[in-house]
Amino acid sequence: MSKDKVQIFDTTLRDGEQVPGCKLDTAQKLVIAERLELLGVDVIEAGFPISSPGDFKSVSEIAKLIKNDITICGLTRAVKKDIEVAADALKHAKYPRIHTGIGTSESHIKYKFNSNEDTIIEKAVAAAKYAKTFVEDVEFFCEDAGRTDNRFLARICEELIKVGVTVLNIPDTTGYCLPEEYGAKIKYLRENVKGIEKATLSCHCHNDLGLATANSIAGVVNGARQIECTINGIGERAGNTSLEEVVMVMRQHPSLGLDTGINSKLLFDTSKMVSEKMGMTVQPNKAIVGANAFAHSSGIHQDGVIKHRETYEIIDPADVGVDESSIILTARSGRAALAYRAKLVGYELTKVQLDSVYQEFLTYADSKKEVMDDDIHEIVAGTDIGIRKA
Ligand code: KIV
Ligand code: ZN
Repeated sequence: MSKDKVQIFDTTLRDGEQVPGCKLDTAQKLVIAERLELLGVDVIEAGFPISSPGDFKSVSEIAKLIKNDITICGLTRAVKKDIEVAADALKHAKYPRIHTGIGTSESHIKYKFNSNEDTIIEKAVAAAKYAKTFVEDVEFFCEDAGRTDNRFLARICEELIKVGVTVLNIPDTTGYCLPEEYGAKIKYLRENVKGIEKATLSCHCHNDLGLATANSIAGVVNGARQIECTINGIGERAGNTSLEEVVMVMRQHPSLGLDTGINSKLLFDTSKMVSEKMGMTVQPNKAIVGANAFAHSSGIHQDGVIKHRETYEIIDPADVGVDESSIILTARSGRAALAYRAKLVGYELTKVQLDSVYQEFLTYADSKKEVMDDDIHEIVAGTDIGIRKA
C-alpha cells in the first residue's frame, strides 16, 4: 500500500532551544542542523531571527550551510520588522520559509492584544501578505489554536489561504487538547475552509498533559500533513511533540497509511547528540530513545525476550540505531537471564551449575541495584564448584 508522506518540521533549534539553560551557540546549532539533514527532516526551523543577534547569525549560517532539498524556516511575530529581519537571515537559503503568526484564542485576543477578532484577522492577513513579498513559502501559526473557537479558526485560515499562505500551523500551544478534540479540529478545518486543499495543515503540539504525540497523530490521521516536533521532545515547559515518537508510531502502524522520510536508524545517535549538546539528559524510560527503552529486567520478560524478542518488544532496536536489547541482571531476574549473560562473558553453564550459580546470584543481587559482567565472574568463583570459562 502506498503511503501518504507526512512532512517532518523540526523545531529543536527554535522551540526546543527555548528550554531554560539549554542555549546553543551557532557552531553547535550548525552541527545539529547537519545531523537533522542526515536524519531526513523536511523543514528545519533554525531560530527566531529578530530575537537576538546570535539567533540571526545561526539562522543565516544554517541557511548557507544546508543545501539539500530542505526548507529552512525562521520564526516571526506578525510584525513588519520581524518579517524583514527573518527574510534577511534566510536570504541564502535554497528553500526559505517565513513562519509568522498571531494568537487567535479568546484569551490571547482579549488579554495579550486587548483586541477583537476582526482586527486580529486584519493583522494576520497583513503579516502574511508582507511575508509573501519576500518568500513564496509562508507558514502562519494561529497561536493557541488548541483553545481557539473552530469557527473563528476556520475564518482566519480562509483569509490566509486567499493571500497565498502555504502552510497553516494549528498549535496546541498550551498542550490542552484531547486527541479526539485536536483531530476533530483538523477535520473541521478540512471540511469548512474554502480552498484548504491549497495549503498544508500542520500540527504543533505541546506536552503539558503528556498528549503531544497522541494529538499530533490524531492530527495527521484527520488530514494534517506536517508535524512540528523536536528531538527528545524538548521544548518549553513539558516540551514539544517528540520527533522519534511520531516517526515510529507511523512506522509501526502501517495501517495508518502514513510515513515520513526519516532514516530511523539515526534516531538513537541523534537523541544522544542533542542531549549532550544541550546538557539535557534523556529520561531513562523515554519511549524509543531512553536508556531503558530496550532493556528488560524482570524474569518473566527476560525469559520471553531470550526465547523470541517480539514477545516483549514491538520495535527492533536496530531500526532506531540501538545495537541490541539488553538483559539487565537484578534480584528480579530468573535463571534464563543469568545463563544468557553468563554465556556472554564466557560461561556455558550446565543445569546443575546454573542452579548453584543462581543461588549465589540471588544473595549477591539483593545487595546491588544491578549485577554487572565483573560481578558475574565473582559470583561464579563464589560457588566454589570449579566452573571454568568455555
Ligand atoms: O507553541 C506555539 O504556539 C509556538 C508558535 C510560535 C508556533 O511555538
Ligand atoms: Zn510551540
